[in-house]
Amino acid sequence: MTGSPSTVRALRGHVLQFSGDPFTEAPEAAITDWSDGLVVIVDGIIHSVGQAEDMISALPEGAVIEDYRGKFILPGFIDCHAHYPQSEVISSYGTQLIEWLNKYTFPAESKFHDKDYALNAAEVYLNESFRNGITSASVYCTVHPESAEALFERASAYDMRIVAGKVLMDRHAPDTLRDTAQKGYDDSKKLIETWHGKGRALYSITPRFAPTSTPEQLEAAGVLWKEHPGTLVQTHTSENLKEIAWVKELYPEHPDYVGVYEHYGLLGKGSVLGHGIHLNDRERAIISETGTAVAHCPTSNTFIGSGLFDVEEAHFGKLPFRVGLATDVGGGSSFSMLSTMRTAYEIAQLRGYSLHPAQAYYLATVGSAKTLYLEDKIGNILPGLEADITIVDPQSTPLIQHRMSYANDLTEALFIQMILGDDRAIEATYVGGKKVYQKPS
Ligand code: GUN
Ligand code: ZN
Repeated sequence: MTGSPSTVRALRGHVLQFSGDPFTEAPEAAITDWSDGLVVIVDGIIHSVGQAEDMISALPEGAVIEDYRGKFILPGFIDCHAHYPQSEVISSYGTQLIEWLNKYTFPAESKFHDKDYALNAAEVYLNESFRNGITSASVYCTVHPESAEALFERASAYDMRIVAGKVLMDRHAPDTLRDTAQKGYDDSKKLIETWHGKGRALYSITPRFAPTSTPEQLEAAGVLWKEHPGTLVQTHTSENLKEIAWVKELYPEHPDYVGVYEHYGLLGKGSVLGHGIHLNDRERAIISETGTAVAHCPTSNTFIGSGLFDVEEAHFGKLPFRVGLATDVGGGSSFSMLSTMRTAYEIAQLRGYSLHPAQAYYLATVGSAKTLYLEDKIGNILPGLEADITIVDPQSTPLIQHRMSYANDLTEALFIQMILGDDRAIEATYVGGKKVYQKPS
């Protein structure tokens, strides 16, 4: 901590760190906590973590200490699958996937050729994410390159680790939302050259899903990924039974839905498949073997009526794979990652598995970071990681206060927050060590 130009900031409160993996060891044992802890941040990077009283005297003169005693200091939540242009159609009534896309989503996305419209929507999306303790996200824009430029521009103003891409879609969509295999490739390439690795931004090549891309477009997407190592891929798979039947019609020569992406070189480390609810054994195996990840989108799966993701099989099956937690806004019904954890718990319950709170918080932090292969940068409170941090007020409503007075231990307190908490529980949000949200008093 020598060299005076450094900015040193310390957060004091009940600090939680994942010192292990709650899916491979006793869940409680995976969390290390300091009830009066300190997180020291130097120039946006976590410098040290420990017991406050042991560390405060070593802080350099001028270090700012922010006092969150009585509150939880958690790794920032990472939403590994969201659609920023869909914030305006969140909570749209009465449809399932394909009808929902045609009736609500495509008309909304058609407006994003207008850069000013997109900039405004990006700002709304980012602020709502920060209000919910989301510090990083993997985001679908629309088919218009302007929509991706807008999100990257606004996210870079907060120095946020954003992962995003322009959607590729060259069929089965309105005229206003179609590119071509060549234009999609060219526009994506240009965006990669401008934004990938600029500050904390990363580019994700984003074919929407197999039904809205021709084989030529999926092929071009695979080529583009190969040409740009370090970029990511995001798409949807196996969300809805009618969608799966449609993919079978459109791509009859492939063994299954995931097999289409496999054929076009779109699986591997850094590829994140949204949903993955109705996977067969072959699909699970190829996902696992290739290091591909799945974004679990619980509130979307219940809201659009898609099905119940098998979080137990994903972790404890013969061939486990990386799983993160996601809002899937605006198919998802909430920006709150606490509410998203609650629905993940409820879905698991409906399948006969009780997701442990340590596992739920892990999915929302380290798990999501691992889907993006960014666990060495974000998702935990460890020295050397980027200081993306969320402060949770464990007493945010009268009911939570009442319930918390009966909580026996940390695990129960965390569970109460994820079942009863929402945006009101988010006290403050830090991105790269800077406060981007403070709950009004
Ligand atoms: N499948 C293809 N596009 C979408 C989308 O925008 N949302 C969801 N939930 N599923 C999709
Ligand atoms: Zn989605």
